[in-house]
Amino acid sequence: MENDHLLACRCMEITEVEIRNAVRQGATTVDAVKRATQACFGLCQSKTCFNIIARIISEETGKPISEILPIKIRIPVRPLNIESF
Ligand code: FES
Repeated sequence: MENDHLLACRCMEITEVEIRNAVRQGATTVDAVKRATQACFGLCQSKTCFNIIARIISEETGKPISEILPIKIRIPVRPLNIESF
């Protein structure tokens, strides 16, 4: 069941429908959904929305949820001072 206004990623205000549309257009991994919609780019860095996005991918593709990998973590290229945050 789709809800046009139900947020899948609260940090970036990306709706469930936007995620489903991205999956239907070929974004079948969480990383691909992230690139297509900007979901997972928020403050929580997908701690809140990963499970929701993984469930949507599973529902749309039929892939078992246990096979859906988390997003790739990229460490900063160079060290940052704590004051820069
Ligand atoms: S809820 Fe998606 S990045 Fe925080």
